[in-house]
Amino acid sequence: MDGQTHPAPDAPAVVILLGPPGAGKGTQARLLEKRFGLVQLSTGDLLRDAVARGTEAGQAAKAVMDAGGLVSDEIVLAILTDRLGQPDVTRGVILDGFPRTTGQARALDDLLTARAARVDTAISLEVDDAAMVDRISGRFTCKDCGEGYHDRFKPTKAEGVCDACGGTEMVRRADDRPETVAARLEAYHAQTAPLVAYYEARGALDRVDAMQDIAEVSRQMARIAERVTA
Ligand code: AP5
Ligand code: MG
Ligand code: ZN
Repeated sequence: MDGQTHPAPDAPAVVILLGPPGAGKGTQARLLEKRFGLVQLSTGDLLRDAVARGTEAGQAAKAVMDAGGLVSDEIVLAILTDRLGQPDVTRGVILDGFPRTTGQARALDDLLTARAARVDTAISLEVDDAAMVDRISGRFTCKDCGEGYHDRFKPTKAEGVCDACGGTEMVRRADDRPETVAARLEAYHAQTAPLVAYYEARGALDRVDAMQDIAEVSRQMARIAERVTA
């Protein structure tokens, strides 16, 4: 007994990416998205977009995000439910950075049950905290298409030019300062890490050693995605 309801035959695949800041959730989600026709749904990106647009939710979330804490379940769930209701989410979704609390995990179960869907797998990207500061401090992103890079581990092919779209404006995140990264790691261990056991208990967990290079992690993720989208 896996503790989950059985999904309808046409239910979208639901893949969760669990892992601390810098584990590679965004990097791997984009690779899976291209290859498997799934839609990446990053609550971090959705929240940053709400902050940039100055919406009510964005205004409430900004200070919490700048301090490295977790935004309230209420705000995150409202943003996620809205996104899940959009028409491009048919084949399946990769939830990048959601759920992050047991409250969010339970709410997701309810949302999916109402749609005759379920969590196919939660992939835990397992890494050492110490390496994460390195990954995060070297990160930058293309402003036009959102492709992520790293000064050392994933540089652009031509300096300052996005490989994916040719854009030339690169941005660094406001919450990527070392002191904020420490708070984000703490929030992960206190509030999100327990979700590994939550999904393991129902036989819906896959673990991936995310200390390996991007290509190797991607190969292992693809094998899991093949299984759940088959
Ligand atoms: P969010 O945007 O989700 O940030 P995060 O969880 O801290 O994770 P990151 O985006 O920093 O890391 P990542 O795992 O995506 O790594 P990446 O692929 O970029 O959340 C931000 C904030 O929003 C939270 O702090 C919170 O306030 C709020 N929030 C979001 N969701 C929420 C929720 N559900 N509930 C409440 N609050 C929420 O990789 C990092 C770098 O490393 C890149 O430069 C990449 O090129 C490089 N890299 C990737 N993989 C490798 C590898 N294998 N080897 C070497 N380098 C690598
Ligand atoms: Mg990310
Ligand atoms: Zn780009």
